[in-house]
Amino acid sequence: MIAPYEFKTLLLGSNNLRCNNSPASDFKSELVHIHLTDYPIRINTSELYLSSMSFERLITKLDDKERYWRSIEGKTIAVIGYGNQGRSQALNMRDNGVNVIIGNPPDEYRKTAEKEGFRVYEIDEAVKNSEIVFMLIPDEVQPEVFSHKIADNLKQGSAIVFASGYNYFYDLITVPSYVDVLLVAPRMIGFGIRDLFLKGKGFPVLIAVGKDYTGQAEEKLLALTDAIGALKPGGVAVRSSFKEETLLDLLTEHTWAGAILYMFRLYYEVATELGASPEAIILELYGSGELAEIAESMKQQGLFKQLKNHSHTSQYGQLSRGRLFANEKVKQLIKKMALEILDGTFAKEWTLEQKSGLIHYKNLYKMNLEHPMEREEEKLYRLLGRIK
Ligand code: NAI
Repeated sequence: MIAPYEFKTLLLGSNNLRCNNSPASDFKSELVHIHLTDYPIRINTSELYLSSMSFERLITKLDDKERYWRSIEGKTIAVIGYGNQGRSQALNMRDNGVNVIIGNPPDEYRKTAEKEGFRVYEIDEAVKNSEIVFMLIPDEVQPEVFSHKIADNLKQGSAIVFASGYNYFYDLITVPSYVDVLLVAPRMIGFGIRDLFLKGKGFPVLIAVGKDYTGQAEEKLLALTDAIGALKPGGVAVRSSFKEETLLDLLTEHTWAGAILYMFRLYYEVATELGASPEAIILELYGSGELAEIAESMKQQGLFKQLKNHSHTSQYGQLSRGRLFANEKVKQLIKKMALEILDGTFAKEWTLEQKSGLIHYKNLYKMNLEHPMEREEEKLYRLLGRIK
């Protein structure tokens, strides 16, 4: 259980959080202004509860495929962006017999899409020529592209599909009232999506209806989830919400994914102070690829069950010493970060950071690239031919 609270109202003042618990059924779709000092982040309250409970949560195949596919039959799908996700999803849908066009500005991605046989248009033209629009450009450019090139060109009754909950959850994009809003968020990098598809396999995806204008949003959602190949054998669609997707995605980044980077730095500092060689440390930590193998074993066998692949000494060490890092203080920190995601504190900070020229972001990156481990890594990776 990730967040045992459901907010009816969520008011912030000087970073104090107050909330009234209430059943999800009480929610009305209205916008609440959350006042975080000077910059309001608006959150759609219809999205303030986590996963919808009224459906089967997990879908591995469509029992009545024809029924769902009828909702997208004869429709043209515009994939906006031909990068990580755009290329793979567009190719998978085309291979599944869907009529796909691409919307992309003139650049290398556009050339690739043309070379791979797609009709490519300027973004506004692609939207005008379609009934379903996949928003597959980077999240940070989406609000501007949406307001200038997409919003006014969406047809009544069309659908917009996001692969990330962020912009819609924080109301950085306002979709016209006459359009269905869907979330089909793969838990997989773009390359993996194409690779698995070609092997006849599916992949995990979080799905949600953000807004059902046509009364057919549910059918479209499932048809499109199938069309991109997620429901092939081994794949699964998890019923979610824009809120849940945003929470889980950001919480991963803000907790263990970020912590592991800084933990490795600390490990490096301690081990070199004790006389260990930089090369041995880097290979031990991540350079050997063992970390990727452990992650694969977690996926295949389970988080703790994969421990049996390690020696007993290793298992005992991990179970007894690792536990010391998982204390109440860390739990409270994780909770604080979760609340800062849900109340818009992080989104506000990130928006301001982008508007003010990414100064803090660049400094953080620079500070880390100046760490001695980076120089040693570069030497090692050159020697190993990983970089030129
Ligand atoms: P990307 O960075 O690969 O997007 C590149 C594409 O965006 C290119 O076609 C480029 O021409 C276009 N583009 C870039 N800047 C543009 C601008 N200012 N105006 C118009 N077009 C522009 O994007 P990626 O990583 O595929 O992400 C797309 C969506 O998928 C995002 O919402 C992301 O959160 C989500 N997502 C991404 C995953 C991944 O594997 N990277 C995994 C799951 C979700």
